[in-house]
Amino acid sequence: MNKFSIFVVDDEKTIRDGISMVLDETYRVSAYPDAEKALTAMKKNQPDLTLLDIGLPGMSGIDALKAIRKEYPDVLVVMITAYEDVDTVISAMKAGAHDYVVKPLHMDGLEVTIGNALDTIRLKKEVQTLQRKYLKEHIPCFIGESKAIQDVMDFIKTVAQSPDTPVLIQGETGTGKELIAAAIHYNSPNWKSPFATVNCAAIPKDLIESELFGYTKGAFSGANAAGKKGLVEAAANGTLFLDEVGDLSLEAQAKLLRFLELGEFYPLGGSRKKQIKTRVVSATNKNLAEMMETGQFRKDLYFRLGVINVKVPSLNQRPDDIMPLAKHFLKGFSDKLGKGVSGISSEAQAALMQHAWTGNVRELKNVMEAAAILFNGAELKLEDLDASFRAALPESGTSTANVDAADFPAEGFCLVSMLEEMERKFIQKAMQLAQNNESQAARLLGMNHHTFRYRRKKLFSL
Ligand SMILES: Nc1ncnc2c1ncn2[C@@H]1O[C@H](COP(=O)(O)OP(=O)(O)OP(=O)(O)O)[C@@H](O)[C@H]1O
Ligand SMILES: [Mg+2]
Repeated sequence: MNKFSIFVVDDEKTIRDGISMVLDETYRVSAYPDAEKALTAMKKNQPDLTLLDIGLPGMSGIDALKAIRKEYPDVLVVMITAYEDVDTVISAMKAGAHDYVVKPLHMDGLEVTIGNALDTIRLKKEVQTLQRKYLKEHIPCFIGESKAIQDVMDFIKTVAQSPDTPVLIQGETGTGKELIAAAIHYNSPNWKSPFATVNCAAIPKDLIESELFGYTKGAFSGANAAGKKGLVEAAANGTLFLDEVGDLSLEAQAKLLRFLELGEFYPLGGSRKKQIKTRVVSATNKNLAEMMETGQFRKDLYFRLGVINVKVPSLNQRPDDIMPLAKHFLKGFSDKLGKGVSGISSEAQAALMQHAWTGNVRELKNVMEAAAILFNGAELKLEDLDASFRAALPESGTSTANVDAADFPAEGFCLVSMLEEMERKFIQKAMQLAQNNESQAARLLGMNHHTFRYRRKKLFSL
């Protein structure tokens, strides 16, 4: 493993040299006489730990500490102070110092303090690695290249960090709301605690209360004799995911609201209140705004659930994701079925891009599964897709390059193929005129060289 790196910042040369000498064997040490020089060096290379004198010339140790905490929150800071400086030590600890050592320095003590501090880093790194592993295990590969979905992912990563804040995820069916809920949980500080899912649409109306809050011994006939814990309790300190929350009855909505407001509930048949802390993430493909208008969904509950609102764009709103998702699913199914697939023909791609994906990502996944079952070959062709995809495209052999906006064919045509065909023709012509000089050809078409080369490679499969 790489040696940990330590910055020593002290204006007294003897202290800098003394510390460097002792620590040099175990760590990579760099010493600076003032905070300004240390901060400049930090811009290039962040140390794991900084030993920082409080009484420095120029920028004070406390100000330097604040600057480090702000710019480099992962760098641990251990303050070096004189005995009489108790007040300063207190303000240093409040400003985020990890620990402090007192002058005159005892090297043994210093080594122990540093060793302990670095253990914290080691542990933190271990936890991060474990969390990443957990994420991978629990969330199937999340594909999203469009700006729209990347913005959503960036947003939920930030939201995930505050583990008490309820999040409401809204979006059409099949857009990935369940995946996003799991991503919030596994990116949160509570990732090791349970992620309990309640499918509000699947639980019979009469049972929802007991499912959520549990019941006590003999609460109702047919109840388990010993009583049962509810899902809210199962999600203690973790995340309670209320899927299809728009399907909750008004009665269940009232009970849920009470729990969200007070953090407490009574199990069915019980008189003893229970208190549980859990983050509530909910999702629905129903139009809650409309449901509130018609009185089917409580407004107060809506505001409680949706302290943070996440709107997942439909697949049609993010066409840049269609091909990456299609290729990902096709490869997955093809591998599972032992079929070697290397690509999707441009005709089939055009058909997939044109389709109106009312079932969103789920529909695309199903289409790719069906295609993988049916097709045999290296490249998925238009014929391998369902007939409805073929019907949407013009007959093959019909040249579309000459379609004029004025005589728009009543049966429609494939705009993507037409534009590609035109582009191909112009690139060919430009190359001819430029006698195969790419950069000159690019100039003829007003394109930059890189874009030209990229498009040419793509369109002519070079
Ligand atoms: N960005 C994505 N990357 C990979 N797979 C995805 C992505 N989005 C969705 N999926 C997959 O598509 C399917 C549908 O997603 P999910 O169940 O999360 O949708 P949903 O929004 O909860 O739908 P519904 O409202 O019908 O419950 C799942 O199999 C999921 O794994
Ligand atoms: Mg769902």
